[in-house]
Amino acid sequence: MDRRTFIQELKLPIMATCAICLGSCAKDDITTPGGGNTGGNTTNSFKVDLTKELQSIGSFIFNDKIIVVRLATGSVPSSFVALQRACTHQGTDVNWNASKNEFICPNHGARFNTSGQNIGGQSTSALPVYAITISGTTLSVG
Ligand code: FES
Repeated sequence: MDRRTFIQELKLPIMATCAICLGSCAKDDITTPGGGNTGGNTTNSFKVDLTKELQSIGSFIFNDKIIVVRLATGSVPSSFVALQRACTHQGTDVNWNASKNEFICPNHGARFNTSGQNIGGQSTSALPVYAITISGTTLSVG
């Protein structure tokens, strides 16, 4: 088999493997209204199945607008926080840092505590907090 034939035969299995991996990652990482994949969800609300997500302290989940973090045990709203993802400085999505228990903006270093208050960096205003309700094993934001 020459090199060209070998590469052509290799393309299809690689593409199929990539498609399977991408589908699997999207399904496992994000939950949105109705329990499906994000699919670019841009709403200010979403639902989380607590039997599958946010099971350990420090774990988090997000969609395009909101990030939710588990801060304590128990399935009550006070065990979680839901904040706007967009940094109040210039809108970059903040990251959750579980070891420091704070949100950090990767763009200019703004830091926010678990109440959304700015605790350092470029931003001077707080991240908006979203209301959380829990019904059975479903956490709802917004
Ligand atoms: S955009 Fe977040 S600190 Fe500038």
